[in-house]
Formats: sequence, C-alpha cells, structure tokens
Amino acid sequence: MLIRFKGHIAESEVTDQVLYVDRRRFLALGAAGAAAMMFPVGRADAGALDYTKGAVTLDEKMTPFEAVTTYNNYYEFGTDKEDPARVAPGKLKTTPWTVSVEGECAKPAKLAYDDLIKPHQLEERIYRMRCVEGWSMVIPWVGVPLAQVLKRFEPTSKAKYVEFTTLADPAQMPGIRSRVLDWPYTEGLRMDEALHSLTLLAVGLYGQELLPQNGAPIRLVVPWKYGFKSIKSIVKIRFTETQPATAWNKSAPGEYGFYSNVNPAVDHPRWSQAKERRIGEFLRRETLPFNGYADQVAGLYAGMDLKAQF
Ligand code: MTE
Repeated sequence: MLIRFKGHIAESEVTDQVLYVDRRRFLALGAAGAAAMMFPVGRADAGALDYTKGAVTLDEKMTPFEAVTTYNNYYEFGTDKEDPARVAPGKLKTTPWTVSVEGECAKPAKLAYDDLIKPHQLEERIYRMRCVEGWSMVIPWVGVPLAQVLKRFEPTSKAKYVEFTTLADPAQMPGIRSRVLDWPYTEGLRMDEALHSLTLLAVGLYGQELLPQNGAPIRLVVPWKYGFKSIKSIVKIRFTETQPATAWNKSAPGEYGFYSNVNPAVDHPRWSQAKERRIGEFLRRETLPFNGYADQVAGLYAGMDLKAQF
C-alpha cells in the first residue's frame, strides 16, 4: 500500500520481506511452533463460533492460522505487517459494538453486534485473498452473506452504492495519529457487488471470532477484489445514490481506483499484478483475473473498460 513515511518499496523488497518474516517466524517458533503453522489450531482465548460448512470452498492449501493472524495490514495500528497483531489485541475494545445502518433505506437502524449478526446462520467460506502488494493467502472465513444483512434495512431504489466506515478512535488506535490515510478508513461497493453471493460480512476465521488484527468484530470480505476493499472493524454502513469516496482512492487516486478488482492485466504503478506470492510458498504463481472468481463475477463488469475503471 502507500507508505509515505517509508518511501518507495519495490515489489521484490516486499516479497522478500514476506519470505524473511515467514522464515524468521518459522525458525523462532521451533519444532512445536512449526508444526502449529502447518497444522493450525485455533487460539484458546478467541471465542468459538457456531457455523455451518458453507457451499463455497476451495481445493487449495489454507494459509496457517499463525500467518493469517500475524501478517496483517491494519493501518489504524501501524504500517508494519507485524504491528496489528502486536498492538491491536490490547487496544481494540470490541464489546459492546454498534453498527449504524443509514442512508437510502426504509429501515435505518443502529444495531448492537448481536442484533445485527445473531438473526443469521453463520457459514464458513474458504476464499483466496490477494493483496495489491503481491502476496496472497487462503483463509477459511466465517460470516454471513452481506446481501442477507443489507436486505433487512430495505434499501430504496436510490441506493446505488454502499459505503462502509471503520471505527476511528485515537484512544484505541495509535496508528491514526499518523496522517498516512484520511481517517476514518472508508470503502465502497456498487449495490450489485454488495449483494453478490460471494460478498461476506465476516465475524470469524478458522472457526473462531475474528482477532482484533483481522478486523474484529465485523469486517467485509470481497474475494475478487484487492485486500484493501475488505474493510475491517465496521461501525457504519450507508446506502448512497452516488459513488462514495474510498480511503485509498482519496490518498492516491492514480494508484487505487474505486473498483479495485484483481486484474493481472492492469499493473499498479509500483507493483506488477501479473504474479503473486502465496504466503508460505517460495515460487510465485500467476494471478488469476478476478482472483479466480471470474466465472461468478465477470458479468458484473460487462461492457466496462477495466483498464480505465481499475
Ligand atoms: N481496513 C482498515 N480499517 N484499515 C486497513 O488498514 N487494510 C486493508 C484491509 N482492510 C485495512 C483494512 C488491506 S490493505 C488488506 S490487504 C486487508 O485488510 C488485510 O486483511 P488481513 O490483515 O485480515 O489479512
């Protein structure tokens, strides 16, 4: 992503850092830890969730729990990959949690976490996730299709987009004292993207409640878009008639567009998007259009010039 204070980071440096961190962690953990990375188990201090195995699965090796929960982007807690796991657990207070649903809908409401999530059956969805920086993971999320949640608020015919906002509390989030982004972090989807059956409102991973570094207690997961669209720790959902501004697009419009679909044919100005390094693997693999979900989602963009609308 954009790291203003650290200057330009070449893709090779980023991917080398991924390998370096992986190797260092592997060595530091010793034999037991290494086994845990390969055969991840959940953490005792995170709540177990009641969920069904979803219909959407993936025949690819899952990224170990250890890596999913310690190699993160969550700039509200710092810009280094290890900052969120180091800082967020002691700082982010996730109960009570309230989400305000506003804008172009017949039934706006402010709902406590339980009232928003508990009416729904949670399911597990194993998704590929790809970061614009060139690394990827396979994560077993637990959540509810966003469409099921949004429909309860009865969006009107004027609702063409959905805007999401993350909590921005300097007392809990030391990273927002830096001006690396214009806080609060916001993201947006077109209504048909938000209602697509792959779009998940996630509350857990590996069968347990989300840890703070992964965006507890509620985050978005949009598997055919670059990771930055998958906004964490959501406190506001707003239906809008016009395309909402997004945090990364505001900060660097030439680098981050509104759509942000994974597209190996359109390079980021600083990073090729043709290949990616799956965390835990050494050789880079080809990046697939729409991150491998083209059959399901390419139709949403029929007729659009995806080079211009990146
Ligand atoms: N949401 C907020 N609020 N702040 C962030 O910095 N980073 C994004 C996204 N959501 C981010 C965020 C980016 S760049 C990525 S790649 C994913 O979260 C990373 O999710 P993960 O750490 O759970 O893998």
